[in-house]
Amino acid sequence: MTTAIIGTGGIGSAIARRLASGGQTLRLASADNESARTLAAQIGRAALVADGDRDAVQGADAVVLALRFAVLKSVIAEIADLLTGKLVVVPSNPVGVDAQGNVSRLLPKGQSSGKVVAGWLPAGARLAMAFGSMSAGLFESSSNRSPEPAVLFYATDDDRAGEEVERLIRTAGFEPVKVGGVEQSGRLEVGGDLHDLVVSPAQARSLVGGSA
Ligand SMILES: NC(=O)c1ccc[n+]([C@@H]2O[C@H](COP(=O)([O-])OP(=O)(O)OC[C@H]3O[C@@H](n4cnc5c(N)ncnc54)[C@H](OP(=O)(O)O)[C@@H]3O)[C@@H](O)[C@H]2O)c1
Repeated sequence: MTTAIIGTGGIGSAIARRLASGGQTLRLASADNESARTLAAQIGRAALVADGDRDAVQGADAVVLALRFAVLKSVIAEIADLLTGKLVVVPSNPVGVDAQGNVSRLLPKGQSSGKVVAGWLPAGARLAMAFGSMSAGLFESSSNRSPEPAVLFYATDDDRAGEEVERLIRTAGFEPVKVGGVEQSGRLEVGGDLHDLVVSPAQARSLVGGSA
């Protein structure tokens, strides 16, 4: 399978490394492609630098939008016609950081980022909110844990997206556990009760509360 990763910063590069080491072929794009080129050189043959965001999506089965929340809507608009029939994975947390380093939520309290992102996508795109529930360092250090794998939580309204994102999560070296529909994405993000947790599948199921 080929996965496009748009955004090769902190979390996009970590996702790319994990997916490539699990055998995925990648098409990478970033704002000016400099970071994408550096990352592709590190990864080697499994990663190709695309000629922009649209070229990254073309030829990919799934798309990871590893972008800051503030640019997500405009990038989705740029590639929208190419997303129909594809899995769209969004790790973005709806947070901004000011010049002093203070983090604040960009959406009103209680508003689900997953619902907001779903509203930006074209009909036929299959959304899963996933891969953004841990900081990049913790995500990389927790992959391929043994004897029990660590869990990566995800949220989706779409059964097929669930199957597809579960495959990607396993490829990245984690056990997938569904939290619920995209309205539950707040549990995964910074400030959510499941954010930055490294737990076993049994612990994860009990935390989710049987709603998956
Ligand atoms: N970093 C983490 O530990 C972490 C963990 C979980 C979730 N998240 C969430 O994931 C999202 C991304 O965070 P991050 O830390 O990875 O941010 P980041 O390091 O700033 O990376 C953002 C990436 O987006 C790219 N980009 C910006 N505009 C673009 C465009 N128009 N087309 C294509 N690429 C574009 C940038 O390209 P350039 O490289 O060319 O500038 C950069 O590679 C955020 O919402 C964050 O909350 C982050």
